[in-house]
Amino acid sequence: MTLAPDRHRPSFHLLPPSGWMNDPNGVVHWRGRYHVFYQHNPLASRWGTPSWGHAVSDDLVHWQHAPIALAPEAPPTDLDGCWSGCFVDDDGTPTLLYSTARDGEQVTCLATGSPDLVRWTKHPDNPVMRPPNGLRGQTMEAFRDPWVWREDDGWYALVGTSIGGLGQALLHRSDDLRSWTYLHAFVPSFDRPICEDTGQVWECPGFFALGDEHALIVSRFQWAAGTHAHVLLGAYRKQHFFPRRRQRLDWGHRAFFAPLTLADGRRRRLMWGWLPEQRDAMRSGATWAGVMSLPREVSLEAGSFRQRFVPELAALRTECTRVEHMSVRGERSLGVDTATAEVRCTVVRGRGTAAGIRFRHAAGQHTDVLVAWETGRLLVDTRWSKGTHAGEYAFDVAPLVDGGRRLERVTLHVYLDHSVLEVIADDRHALTARCYPVGPAEHDVLLVSEAGDACFEQVEAWRLCGDEVCSASVSTSIDAARMVG
Ligand code: FRU
Repeated sequence: MTLAPDRHRPSFHLLPPSGWMNDPNGVVHWRGRYHVFYQHNPLASRWGTPSWGHAVSDDLVHWQHAPIALAPEAPPTDLDGCWSGCFVDDDGTPTLLYSTARDGEQVTCLATGSPDLVRWTKHPDNPVMRPPNGLRGQTMEAFRDPWVWREDDGWYALVGTSIGGLGQALLHRSDDLRSWTYLHAFVPSFDRPICEDTGQVWECPGFFALGDEHALIVSRFQWAAGTHAHVLLGAYRKQHFFPRRRQRLDWGHRAFFAPLTLADGRRRRLMWGWLPEQRDAMRSGATWAGVMSLPREVSLEAGSFRQRFVPELAALRTECTRVEHMSVRGERSLGVDTATAEVRCTVVRGRGTAAGIRFRHAAGQHTDVLVAWETGRLLVDTRWSKGTHAGEYAFDVAPLVDGGRRLERVTLHVYLDHSVLEVIADDRHALTARCYPVGPAEHDVLLVSEAGDACFEQVEAWRLCGDEVCSASVSTSIDAARMVG
């Protein structure tokens, strides 16, 4: 047996020291530091009765692992696991509300924390919330992932559920976070058409003011049809939400799930999503599975929903290759030999059919990020970089224009971090993909234009700092070495 680095393990994305990660939980900017908690199985690289992992950052780039924040405990507490939930500042007392299952029912529990958010004490009278009486039969399947906020007259909580086969969020009210009254379904039924295709169950709801509207984020769990997250934008009136339009948050297939947001001290709304593996980590021998997306800032500009990678990530940049006004036909190498790159480019339509960036990983192994001019779509093609994990999800597509408008130019912002590729086009359309290339590493970044030319107006390609940005804190002694048989 030899110890070897795992070439697919991301180096500047947040991931657990070892074991499994899924949803971000309780993200918060607390006393000047960013905290990301997450669903975690420390024992294996597959889902298992979840604990809450915890990582802390001063700069959104470097992360330090803190001890596990919540772990399942014997009955009558949360033996079935500490499932997803949120953080609440209860007048200075850090408080978590999270889901668990008990006696066949999903319920909400509460824990309070030390000022540094490291030690957590579960409330002795948990659970603090159970499915509402009249709805018990219908919500047996799902009553989970509380999201809590404060209004002048008290606390409000949404809990994700399914009613009549459709996703819904149930609104509750409380004076003290411990005793809750169910009010009603948050999205009135006559507004359902806009919610079509948002799933049979709404997981991990998140609700907040954005610009002069309100945003409700919901995650759709439907394994066969794909799991994704949407933002619904609309009006909040009389404790109901009236969505007017919606946008998919990321077009990767099963690639960006259960996103959660926080408001930071700089008046920004930041979002993280879970990036699942698209390979069987256990079978591949990896001791880790699941990655947190890079933090994205979300905003509403002139009524349009925007997302951007946070500018702090520029701290990762090392060498830069710049190109301006380059006409490309076929492919053109930038000579950027790295498995961790950031590329920003504006590409203008010429006579070609599709143009963009090719990330070469090894001989015959590459991932393409392409703009298809005629159809107005972004394509991410991982057919040649899925290694032995090739399957039906090797070709992702995101629409870039509405209503048949002719697409003339696109700005792409891309991060490649070993097996993770995150793309945001025009600060708006995100598409995350995973690639697991095989063969001796041979990296390059190329500009490509198929079947004719395209003009790359401005290209900046950075090599990024290759060191892992996550470090174990003293109190967690975790062996992050990867073993290969
Ligand atoms: C979403 C989810 C949540 C649940 C958690 C359990 O991925 O299914 O609804 O609380 O994961 O790990």
